Amino acid sequence: MRFNIITLLLAGVTATSAATTTSGASPASTCSPSASDAKVLQFALGVSNFIGHFYNETVNSTFGESTNATIKAYQKVLFGLEKGNTLSSQAIEKVGAKAPGFSKPECDYKIPEVSSTQSWAQWAYRFESTVTGAFIGLAGYTQSPEVAFLMARLAAEHSEHSSLIGSRVNSSYFAQNSTSLVAAYGPIQILSTRNETGSLGEYLGGCLTAPTSPCGPLRIGPLAATPSSSGAVSSPTLATSAAKKI
Ligand SMILES: *[C@@H]1O[C@H](CO)[C@@H](O)[C@H](O)[C@H]1NC(C)=O
Ligand SMILES: *[C@@H]1O[C@H](CO)[C@@H](O)[C@H](O)[C@H]1NC(C)=O
Ligand SMILES: *[C@@H]1O[C@H](CO)[C@@H](O)[C@H](O)[C@H]1NC(C)=O
Ligand SMILES: *[C@@H]1O[C@H](CO)[C@@H](O)[C@H](O)[C@H]1NC(C)=O
Ligand SMILES: *[C@@H]1O[C@H](CO)[C@@H](O)[C@H](O)[C@H]1NC(C)=O
Ligand SMILES: *[C@@H]1O[C@H](CO)[C@@H](O)[C@H](O)[C@H]1NC(C)=O
Repeated sequence: MRFNIITLLLAGVTATSAATTTSGASPASTCSPSASDAKVLQFALGVSNFIGHFYNETVNSTFGESTNATIKAYQKVLFGLEKGNTLSSQAIEKVGAKAPGFSKPECDYKIPEVSSTQSWAQWAYRFESTVTGAFIGLAGYTQSPEVAFLMARLAAEHSEHSSLIGSRVNSSYFAQNSTSLVAAYGPIQILSTRNETGSLGEYLGGCLTAPTSPCGPLRIGPLAATPSSSGAVSSPTLATSAAKKI
């Protein structure tokens, strides 16, 4: 049970645990998820299930009927991304099982109307970018290295999805004059209902509660990072600038 997540999903961790063993360090009590991490993991699972649900509900109905070879080939790639989404949720559930008080969120998700492969890609790009930023943000809300490690892995996974789709949707995706790293979004911003990247409130059906940051607002060098849990983030101006400048 304890090794499932490591052997199944987190191949890279083998090197990490080997290194730890070699150095003779014994695990600190805070290495496993704590009760406060249960909230972080529940939020992560709600977000992960949302993107999984979006793919499950829209990929076949949007791409399945086409006889166009290009679209068929694209659909195969999307099945791969769909699998990545399912693995993301499984990983969160397995780590969540170790966090006292963790329970799976029961969400009644809403999915936007998708009328064409183009509109599918627009929505998928928006949602994958949002989910990527949500996992980066959540890494700042955990007290356990194991959960931070999982959030890093999930952010990278969804950033891959986002860049694959985004490079087809947005011609300025990797702009030479870009001034920021990949966006991060705090939980309160994710819950907001603005109709733009960084917000999912419109689609989550009110099933999630923002976790509380143990450290207050995060700063990395001179650049604002994860928005705080104070609620200031729901101000649109702040949220936008915070989101852009990690
Ligand atoms: C999406 O479909 C896969 C395969 O059918 C399933 O395992 C997974 O639980 C579904 N994800 C969601 C969020 O419903
Ligand atoms: C979509 O279609 C593929 C191939 O036909 C199938 O394997 C998969 O289970 C379908 N996904 C869903 C969510 O129905
Ligand atoms: C197939 O779909 C692609 C992408 O939408 C399009 O550019 C191409 O013209 C289509 N090919 C045919 C034969 O319809
Ligand atoms: C396109 O990507 C750039 C760089 O990531 C981003 O600043 C911009 O907002 C994106 N445009 C759209 C329409 O998503
Ligand atoms: C980056 O360059 C593009 C044109 O290449 C321009 O449209 C855009 O406004 C520029 N963005 C910034 C932040 O300077
Ligand atoms: C949200 O934005 C999308 C794309 O920008 C647009 O098509 C849609 O109508 C908007 N929805 C609402 C409720 O304003």
